[in-house]
Amino acid sequence: MSNMPKCWVVIPAAGIGERVGSSIPKQYLQIAGKTVLQHAISPFVGNGRIAGITVALHPEDTHFSTLEMNATTCDKIHSVIGGETRAHSVLNALDSIEAQLAKDDFVLVHDAARPCLSNNDLDLLIDACLTHEVGGIIGSRVADTIKHVENNNIVSTLDRENIWRAYTPQMFKFGLLQSAIQKAFKDNIYITDEASAIEYIGYQPCMIEGDARNIKVTTAEDISLAEIFLQEEKRK
Ligand code: CTP
Ligand code: MG
Repeated sequence: MSNMPKCWVVIPAAGIGERVGSSIPKQYLQIAGKTVLQHAISPFVGNGRIAGITVALHPEDTHFSTLEMNATTCDKIHSVIGGETRAHSVLNALDSIEAQLAKDDFVLVHDAARPCLSNNDLDLLIDACLTHEVGGIIGSRVADTIKHVENNNIVSTLDRENIWRAYTPQMFKFGLLQSAIQKAFKDNIYITDEASAIEYIGYQPCMIEGDARNIKVTTAEDISLAEIFLQEEKRK
């Protein structure tokens, strides 16, 4: 049993939420009774397959330590200072846990700004990735027709059949993910999620179809939408 790979979680939460435009970073706004960040962490705290959670924080963060669920009150949770971009924050968190992990342990990276991850989708991802040779991510099919636009003119229509939205969590072996992000940085490749780093070094992660309500809070309207989804979930 002791040789079984463990699952660890990294939550990049070091952003300032500029596009939401509120006075505090979006991950600390209250929706449906808790902060966005608490909602984002909650499925992992309650999941018996998760060994530990590392939250990457802005160097000037004053909010995290005041949450009910923080590094002092929950022994599964740790914090680390994040970096200049999301990918730097993720790499800082990976580096901070390296000493306690085996290379074959898994890491699930989940945005602090995604408060609506269901327990079911989390379990689906873990089940699929534990046996997949690369790892994978949660996403959903695109419903709209997708246009390639240049200078406000439509150049072409993409084949929607093969287009998916990439969500988080994204789950990969620790060693593979850390070296993929390091390689992307070294080559000056800008990555917006973990899968793109893994793709960059030549692998094909799997895509697991998840609930489309697992939105990333990006603008002020998304706050209202996330609140509706969470209230719906509470009523079940
Ligand atoms: N993030 C991070 N470190 C950064 C930038 C972002 O850990 N230097 C985190 C955010 O806190 C968020 C996730 O990465 O949980 C996704 O990023 P995004 O939605 O872009 O959040 P912000 O960067 O905070 O928002 P904005 O781009 O509007 O400023
Ligand atoms: Mg950002």
